[in-house]
Amino acid sequence: MPDDFSIHPTPDGSSTVYSSRYGQYYHSTHGALTQSRVVYLEGTQTQLHPAPKVLEVGFGMGLNFLTTLRDALERGVSLHYIALEFDPAPAEVLEVTLSNHPFAANGIWHDVLTRWGESFTFKRDGVVLEVVCEDVTTLDLPLEWATAVYLDGFSPGVNPEIWTLETAQKLSRTMLPGGWLSTYSAAGAVKRALEGAGLEIHKKPGMRGKREFITAFKPL
Ligand SMILES: C[S@@+](CC[C@H](N)C(=O)[O-])C[C@H]1O[C@@H](n2cnc3c(N)ncnc32)[C@H](O)[C@@H]1O
Repeated sequence: MPDDFSIHPTPDGSSTVYSSRYGQYYHSTHGALTQSRVVYLEGTQTQLHPAPKVLEVGFGMGLNFLTTLRDALERGVSLHYIALEFDPAPAEVLEVTLSNHPFAANGIWHDVLTRWGESFTFKRDGVVLEVVCEDVTTLDLPLEWATAVYLDGFSPGVNPEIWTLETAQKLSRTMLPGGWLSTYSAAGAVKRALEGAGLEIHKKPGMRGKREFITAFKPL
């Protein structure tokens, strides 16, 4: 493992990773897999959608992708996933961090790891994954496309640009009416930015160690 990453077990049996360069964990230390399922998959109602189209800000270790992939393949529905990541960690770090994920042995994940490091598009078995190694603030996003947005950057002290009104407006424009955005943050400034972008805020009870998280609905 590169020196600036260290793996940490979390209480639900999954692992997260700490970056000493950013001074941040990539996931909740109270349960990385649980956060991925509760906040992102279920927070956006993606586990109920017949053909989810997900846009993620911050692919990180790929945990949210793997959790969403597992759900789609087990339900037999198609999945189109666009993941933005402006600072890809080494593939080895992703592989080790998710080595105890229930879907770690899946062939699609294996193929993703072999291509990891720069932008690519992958298609197989009804799954399309587009990894775009760029900054969300400068990239053109598709309009009215996403059934779900996973807003999962580092905290505002580290990634202030993704928590602004401008980024919220951009993400709102990429959402289909009736789509959901979810984020682990419950900060007042995040809520105001999302509201300012025309989204309806629904606060949800958080996991242990976090009082609430925000989901936001794009009205029909
Ligand atoms: C909390 S981690 C994401 C964890 C990830 N969703 C997962 O499931 O493993 C935050 C990630 O967001 C990325 N990021 C932060 N700001 C970004 C930006 N402006 N554009 C694209 N990626 C960004 C970081 O490089 C980091 O990998």
